[in-house]
Amino acid sequence: TLEVDIAKTVTKIQPTMFGLFFEDINFAADGGLYAEMIKNRSFEFDKPLMGWEQPNTKRSSMNMQSGVAAPVNVSENKNNPNFCRILINDDKGYAIINEGFRGMGIKKDAKYNLSLKVANPGGTIKKIIFQFIDKDQKVLGETSIIPSSKEWNNYTLQFTATQTEAKARLKITFEGTGTIDLDMISLFPEDTWKNRKNGLRKDIVQLLYDMKPGFLRFPGGCIVEGRTLADRYQWKKSVGEVENRKTMMNRWNVEFGHKQTPDYFQSFGLGFYEYFQLSEDIGAEPLPILSCGMACQYNTGELAPIEELDPYIKDALDLIEFANGTIDTPWGKLRSDMGHPKPFNLKYIGVGNEQWGPDYIERYKVFEKAIKAKYPKIIIVSGSGPSPDGEHFDYAMQELKKLDAELIDEHYYKSPQWFRENAGRYDSYDRKGPKIFAGEYAAQSVSGANPNNRNNWECAFSEAAFMTGLERNAEVVTLTSYAPLMAHEEAWQWTPDMIWFNNLETYGSANYYVQKLFSLNKGTDLLVITQDGKPLTGQNNLYASAVKDSKTKEVIIKVVNTSAEAQDIIVDLKGNKLESKGNLTTLTSPNLQDENTFSDPKKISPKESEYKLKGEKAQLKLPAYSVNVLKLKMI
Ligand code: AHR
Repeated sequence: TLEVDIAKTVTKIQPTMFGLFFEDINFAADGGLYAEMIKNRSFEFDKPLMGWEQPNTKRSSMNMQSGVAAPVNVSENKNNPNFCRILINDDKGYAIINEGFRGMGIKKDAKYNLSLKVANPGGTIKKIIFQFIDKDQKVLGETSIIPSSKEWNNYTLQFTATQTEAKARLKITFEGTGTIDLDMISLFPEDTWKNRKNGLRKDIVQLLYDMKPGFLRFPGGCIVEGRTLADRYQWKKSVGEVENRKTMMNRWNVEFGHKQTPDYFQSFGLGFYEYFQLSEDIGAEPLPILSCGMACQYNTGELAPIEELDPYIKDALDLIEFANGTIDTPWGKLRSDMGHPKPFNLKYIGVGNEQWGPDYIERYKVFEKAIKAKYPKIIIVSGSGPSPDGEHFDYAMQELKKLDAELIDEHYYKSPQWFRENAGRYDSYDRKGPKIFAGEYAAQSVSGANPNNRNNWECAFSEAAFMTGLERNAEVVTLTSYAPLMAHEEAWQWTPDMIWFNNLETYGSANYYVQKLFSLNKGTDLLVITQDGKPLTGQNNLYASAVKDSKTKEVIIKVVNTSAEAQDIIVDLKGNKLESKGNLTTLTSPNLQDENTFSDPKKISPKESEYKLKGEKAQLKLPAYSVNVLKLKMI
């Protein structure tokens, strides 16, 4: 029998309690959430023609008669100087083909918006034809332009796909002979999230929106830090005109994961403005994390000397102005010019990702002083390193406590067993100390980024067991997020991931449904739920937390059964009268190894049923391996 006193609340549950961690890892931005379909659209990858094929050039036989594309560094755009100059020597249907991000997903009857810059210096190219093709060269939709201008000219076109195809490509064929210049060849589905140009994939955003996340942390992760300081994430390079955002190699362009991804670059088409806008769209507090002058400690660990931290600090201060400043301020004006005159109402800023040690603490102090001097109300997120079991972690925690840090970011990627055994982790945390942001966590079925490290049901319900502990400690833990958020089926560097997608489809893993269940049922006030006066942290394989929602006037009980057997329990509810008709949501699956897949995306997903309360005691039969949420209305 578990006991709950509905009249006694412990603390408020913060609206930020369950949120999202976004990082451009696993093709999450370019090739994923960002709906651009052309890879290397402005020819700025380290190999400028990466992603582009010339199927009918005779270059391979060293005979240049048919035409050859060569990037030349002479365009007016100094951030993205390359463009593609093609010399077409004979008019036999010379073409270039863009392969997309592991293909392009197109849908029958859907419209696609193409834009590009073209110069036809000799005026000799008569026509350019754009076609979706499949692997057998079958045309699946087409359009064309007459490139009338000798100077650079912008073209925008729309065409319709005639068939659904997951691995389409875009073929561009030229009529006429002579030189033609192309740049910024961009292709988006018309149907993006909120129909925005330069938009996001609607199906993926919908999954995020449905979770009602409390916050969105961006842009990472290690990507914030960079392998070197020079390639850290610099938000100022991710705002303004899309074509002026300088392309760079992604920090996750690594020989890692199930496949190499030498073609992983950041176009920054999804940049800080778009992250703020996305946060607003999905009702999440924006939570940007910035470089603290330390490159990733797994790579070079390069350090900006303390006396050279000014540009890093200025980036932080200017970001707050970009988000919150009036339109009379330079950065507030840019936000307004980009389409958002109203402030984004930024409340948090993160200083460094997963940094630790004396070097971090020294730099954190400088940031804290500067940010608080100018923006005393902004809450600063500090880091404590990657794993809570190490010495570095204890060091950072102790030092940050001494400095009265407000919110400390903890990260843990551990076994399912660790998650079950650590549901009581925060029970002993100082209630008067810094608040905790469990900013990256995931149960790993095996360690390392490899195909055997799965989003299986054991991982998901073990996280749920642990999350009852996060919720029970809402006095200390105020933000939490699973990581990483998403991955492309064919281009990932890290496993497991909460959401999986390919070019046509997306699905939430079992872990996604656990996160969603907690987020949608976070309530407003924490209650105490005990068995024999003690919190449930795994006794008889049971874990529990309880909240009430003052808006919906509900009591919400979450109980996780990690046993292989079903269990009967009684929840004794005191302190308030309850309606007899309630609601029970159950997330369960019979096998530890079960998981959602593209072919069975909702195999593990919540099932709702009506619940009848008899008297003050709720009786529940908890299926084996199950996460259960009981909701009862207060009278
Ligand atoms: O989530 C993947 C990586 O894990 C993040 O980039 C980093 O912060 C952590 O080490």
